[in-house]
Amino acid sequence: MKTLVTGARGQLGCELAALTNEIDPSGEYVFTSSEQLDITDRSAVLEMMQRLKPQAIINCAAYTQVDRAEDEPERADAVNHRGSAYLASTAKKIGALLLHVSTDYVFGAGVSHTPITEQIAPNPMGVYGFTKLAGEQAIRDSGCRHIILRTSWLYSSHGYNFVKTMLRLMRERSEIRVVNDQIGSPTYARDLAAAIVHILREEPTDDKLGTYHYCNTGECSWYDFAQAILKYAGLSHQCRVLPCTTAEYPTKASRPSYSALDTTSLHRTFGLSIPHWQDSLQSMLRTHPEL
Ligand SMILES: NC(=O)c1ccc[n+]([C@@H]2O[C@H](COP(=O)([O-])OP(=O)(O)OC[C@H]3O[C@@H](n4cnc5c(N)ncnc54)[C@H](OP(=O)(O)O)[C@@H]3O)[C@@H](O)[C@H]2O)c1
Repeated sequence: MKTLVTGARGQLGCELAALTNEIDPSGEYVFTSSEQLDITDRSAVLEMMQRLKPQAIINCAAYTQVDRAEDEPERADAVNHRGSAYLASTAKKIGALLLHVSTDYVFGAGVSHTPITEQIAPNPMGVYGFTKLAGEQAIRDSGCRHIILRTSWLYSSHGYNFVKTMLRLMRERSEIRVVNDQIGSPTYARDLAAAIVHILREEPTDDKLGTYHYCNTGECSWYDFAQAILKYAGLSHQCRVLPCTTAEYPTKASRPSYSALDTTSLHRTFGLSIPHWQDSLQSMLRTHPEL
């Protein structure tokens, strides 16, 4: 199956490139960076898809800067909403399956205190979440064959993420404070990439299409996450991590107080076994001692 990947230089795109090279070297993948394919350029999207005729499109392209999105709603909307819509209408036109990645931030405050299922109605709190939700809706409205995978708290050895920021701060400072009242599920982008490859290799029939949640199992606060990074990176002698509240650490965009996702449906439908976030964090830190 020929598969085109957008946003290939991001965390997920890089993990997909590395993984497919390892486990599916004979697979036909076309990885495109934002320079090679700008998903907000409707005619460029159509031209490339009609030329390459992929059977599947994996959309890893997104505007992911949650706080900056509050000041740049049009840019966030252009990528997360309209870009996704262009991919969807093109996928419909050429008969490709669109696998699109979305976020736990489509859910807002006080939704739940137990992992959120696909049946719960989204209720975003900020521009990023609103634009990602609009992108999801445009894909559903387009009528293209699609799978939307919502994920959360993504990290990898590539790009910018919480794990890399914490490792830097833990080496620079003797003490850091991390919020203890936002709960979610950290997700190693490599695990998500493996899940995506698994799903597409199955060549899912129409009854398996739709919206699913994927995150590593287990849940924690950002503070718990930071404590685990400190422990597994062997930096406990260098830095102390202390808890603080969201009110003590205000950010431009509001974030959900609880956004752990329920992955039962994905597990049942595709037979995926999903690693616990602590195991994946350890594995990532072991594989990347240079971080
Ligand atoms: N990061 C998280 O914590 C998190 C959590 C939940 C869900 N997600 C979702 O997971 C997916 C992957 O996230 P990620 O962390 O891998 O994101 P990322 O590292 O920020 O990468 C996003 C990529 O999208 C590219 N991009 C931006 N605008 C584009 C455009 N107009 N056309 C084509 N490419 C464009 C960027 O290109 P440049 O490199 O050129 O800027 C970048 O390489 C996204 O859908 C995101 O919303 C992320």
